[in-house]
Amino acid sequence: MAQLEAGDLAQAVIDRMADAPNPRFKQVMAALVQHAHAFVREVELTPQEWMTAIEFLTATGKMCDEKRQEFILLSDTLGISMLVVAVEQIKGARAVQAQVAAGAQPPTEATVQGPFYWEGSPELGLGSDIGEGAPGEPAYYSGRVTDTAGTPIANCCLDVWSGDGDGIYDMQMGEKAGMRLRARFHSDALGKYRFWSIKPTFYPVPDDGPVGDMLRAMGRHPNRPGHIHMMVYAPGYQRLTTHLFVSDSPYLDSDAVFGVRNSLIVDYAWHPAGTAPDGRTMEKAYYTAAYDFKLMPAA
Ligand code: BEZ
Ligand code: FE
Repeated sequence: MAQLEAGDLAQAVIDRMADAPNPRFKQVMAALVQHAHAFVREVELTPQEWMTAIEFLTATGKMCDEKRQEFILLSDTLGISMLVVAVEQIKGARAVQAQVAAGAQPPTEATVQGPFYWEGSPELGLGSDIGEGAPGEPAYYSGRVTDTAGTPIANCCLDVWSGDGDGIYDMQMGEKAGMRLRARFHSDALGKYRFWSIKPTFYPVPDDGPVGDMLRAMGRHPNRPGHIHMMVYAPGYQRLTTHLFVSDSPYLDSDAVFGVRNSLIVDYAWHPAGTAPDGRTMEKAYYTAAYDFKLMPAA
């Protein structure tokens, strides 16, 4: 049997997949093998370095449980989660390119979901306050949900969540803490939404595990700029998972998970105590943040 040399190994592995029943799986695995082998050859990876990598991945797996997903955090901090989101968005944007060329507006950009989404948050009426009692300065959020042609989407769900004014999510507050700073709202007949929460602040991604060690070895900080998460969905439209970023937040230029899109940066306008846009009497200063969402039609 002919001996395989280093340069032939990738092709040999790929050839062994000739009978793989799923063509997409075969395509993805062939590219993965090709790139992984090229990487090992490019950096001339030593056996000790490969063992360090295996130990790192083992520690990453051991850190995972139903509350903590260290592999997703690894994917996030290496920019892969955001790349996957961007590739999907580019495919979607291609589908509506003709409408955008004819004057339709581009759809709202997506970004990473992150680890703090909690399904089943309370359904609240428009105008409700989900920030009451939590640390942070009050902020009034409002806007409209439309399709890319500007037609309002009524009864569209906006599932929102954020950390508090100290950068802490409810899920980080221990076993007994329930949901906080999250809710589902539904747009009205004109596609409009409004609710009160807080102005979010920057915070670090969990950095007490192997990914934190990796960030330190890379000379990187673990911080994300202030943002509120939104999942926006209605029947007949593609589900949008995105954030609104606070325009005066630190780390907009160096988000630890590379999630910032310029189109998602929002000015939080400061207002002194007084009457808020919804008629509410505010005894302390507050912010307003306005943003319109544009959804793509379902494929
Ligand atoms: C977040 O937005 O909360 C988040 C996103 C990715 C990794 C860690 C945290
Ligand atoms: Fe977040």
